[in-house]
Amino acid sequence: MNKRNFIRFGIIFLVPLSFIISQCFHETKPSATSFNDPRGPQFAGSATCVSCHKNVSDDYLHSAHFQTSRLASPASVLGSFAPGSNIVKYNDSISVIMEKRDGGLYQACYVNGNLTQLQPFNIVFGFKRAETFLYWKDSYVYQLPVTYYTQLHQWANSPGYSEKRPYYTRMISEMCFECHSSNMKQIPPTQEQIDHKTIGLDKNTMMLSIDCERCHGPAAQHVTFQMQNPKNKQAMYITKLGGLSRSQRMDLCGVCHSGINQVAWSTFDFKPGDTLTKYFDSRFLNQVPDVTRIDVHGNQVGLLKGSKCYMQGKIECGTCHGMHDNGVKTVKMYSQICQSCHTDANHNVCKMTAQIGQPITSNCLDCHMPVRSSNSIVIHGAATQNAFYQARMHRIAIYPEETQKVMAMMKKMD
Ligand code: HEC
Ligand code: HEC
Ligand code: HEC
Ligand code: HEC
Ligand code: HEC
Ligand code: HEC
Ligand code: HEC
Repeated sequence: MNKRNFIRFGIIFLVPLSFIISQCFHETKPSATSFNDPRGPQFAGSATCVSCHKNVSDDYLHSAHFQTSRLASPASVLGSFAPGSNIVKYNDSISVIMEKRDGGLYQACYVNGNLTQLQPFNIVFGFKRAETFLYWKDSYVYQLPVTYYTQLHQWANSPGYSEKRPYYTRMISEMCFECHSSNMKQIPPTQEQIDHKTIGLDKNTMMLSIDCERCHGPAAQHVTFQMQNPKNKQAMYITKLGGLSRSQRMDLCGVCHSGINQVAWSTFDFKPGDTLTKYFDSRFLNQVPDVTRIDVHGNQVGLLKGSKCYMQGKIECGTCHGMHDNGVKTVKMYSQICQSCHTDANHNVCKMTAQIGQPITSNCLDCHMPVRSSNSIVIHGAATQNAFYQARMHRIAIYPEETQKVMAMMKKMD
């Protein structure tokens, strides 16, 4: 039994259970007491925020955080089930076909034309660049072998999976849910489960989607107070994130954006203002991130902290990213943010400014935050191997090779 499971048995029994799945927050009559949140009475649930924070809530519905986990349905699974585009061929005899049957969605494995595995799409994880799918079997959750790569409009083997044959046996623990949802608890394991390292999950505790209170902390008291004192326009009983230190805000994002760490205590318990060292093994936290390895799971916090803009400047995640929006910005818009700090007045404009001239103002990223491709996804027979998963390097620095590439491109365009 690992330390993580052991430490965490204690808290499992304390969770009051009730069945609720937050798929989409319909506006409900704001009543702090009417909502039975599986996390406990200190939570109000996102639906209660809508009546007073309508703009934020409406925007948030379009964000990647809100969409990052949801129930599978023909509307939420973006890949095609049409014959011809619903197949991943592993080799001449093995393929997985995405099928609609018996009113559900399934990944069916065929070996020489014989059906050998058939499992349903139950839960969707991921949104912006990839959707991967989970299924329930008794109290266990497993990942399906085929993932949909949203921007390439293509089905292919799931990240980290062999491109040679499909597996239906990768068990998913509550760890994935800690970063991709609002709640999921383990069922206290039997000795047999501990011996076999299997982890049962309690469906009744599942709350899909990252909701408001994952970042803002439990807010039932805030809701109750503001409802009872409608004339009070001051926020009460809610942490003012703008008033925390930068390091505390970085830790809040770092709960999910410092790569995959060994976590000693459930990060569902993290509240704004907490420090990550309480949850993560400090040996991992203090490791300098490997800038050569790009995975589906990046360590933007560690990388940004290693940038001079962070060490000598006041940059943080919120300098570039909105907290509640759909995250759509052009390269030019990001470059304008760079130029809010890098100005003639501050004597820290790019050394290449004279050489490049005016065009430099519209693209600082490709030289200083280059796009990197992941090699954790290898696709059988794919022509566009490198394009399957790409990420922006969050260590803002000077990359001589990227500069050469960009300069060569510019020359071509002249
Ligand atoms: C009955 C009305 C009401 C409800 C319901 C409500 N709030 Fe608020 N909230 C307010 C008022 C009033 C303020 C202060 C003015 C403002 O910032 O909009 C506020 C401010 C805030 C702030 C800003 C705090 C700061 O100053 O930085 C946050 C964050 C917040 N609420 C989160 C939530 C969340 C999350 C929910 C749902 C769980 C929620 N609120 C539900 C009335 C409400
Ligand atoms: C509970 C975990 C969690 C926390 C806390 C969290 N994130 Fe995320 N974030 C995610 C996940 C999961 C995704 C991937 C969404 C998807 O499926 O596309 C994501 C995606 C993003 C993206 C990419 C969105 C896009 O539109 O492409 C940005 C930017 C981001 N997060 C910034 C932040 C910042 C800034 C904070 C801190 C204020 C933060 N996140 C806190 C889990 C989290
Ligand atoms: C430590 C937090 C964390 C854990 C644990 C985690 N994820 Fe993620 N996941 C993220 C974040 C944050 C992103 C956004 C991309 C990034 O960070 O580069 C993401 C991205 C993804 C994506 C791609 C979504 C997109 O559109 O970008 C998939 C699919 C995914 N995760 C599945 C999983 C599965 C399955 C597990 C469990 C095996 C898991 N994740 C565990 C935080 C986490
Ligand atoms: C990924 C983390 C995250 C999530 C999820 C999130 N917020 Fe926020 N929110 C923030 C941060 C960080 C700030 C502070 C920005 C600042 O002051 O720099 C903020 C600010 C606010 C504010 C005050 C400023 C403003 O923009 O009006 C309100 C109100 C608020 N959030 C409500 C909500 C509600 C309601 C939800 C759910 C629909 C929600 N938030 C979901 C991170 C988050
Ligand atoms: C909040 C202010 C701020 C923002 C925004 C910002 N920087 Fe910086 N950056 C700094 C400071 C401060 C330094 C270090 C001292 C100096 O050069 O002034 C720095 C240093 C750098 C360096 C030198 C790095 C090295 O390793 O020598 C580069 C390159 C750089 N920034 C590029 C960028 C780019 C590109 C962006 C936008 C993607 C950006 N910065 C956004 C404040 C900022
Ligand atoms: C200097 C601006 C800047 C800062 C600061 C910044 N980001 Fe980003 N981030 C970007 C850009 C640019 C992209 C690429 C967006 C796109 O392609 O649309 C990005 C993309 C992302 C993504 C999607 C995956 C990827 O790498 O493309 C995540 C997740 C993310 N940022 C999280 C964070 C977190 C967490 C922080 C704070 C630790 C942070 N970012 C700070 C500029 C920034
Ligand atoms: C074609 C690639 C390229 C582009 C585009 C580019 N840079 Fe640079 N930048 C470089 C290189 C290379 C250096 C190092 C030059 C040197 O030391 O002689 C540099 C240096 C810098 C420095 C460090 C200056 C110092 O005094 O140490 C900053 C800050 C910077 N760039 C910011 C920016 C910003 C902001 C933009 C967008 C407006 C930008 N860069 C666009 C390649 C580029």
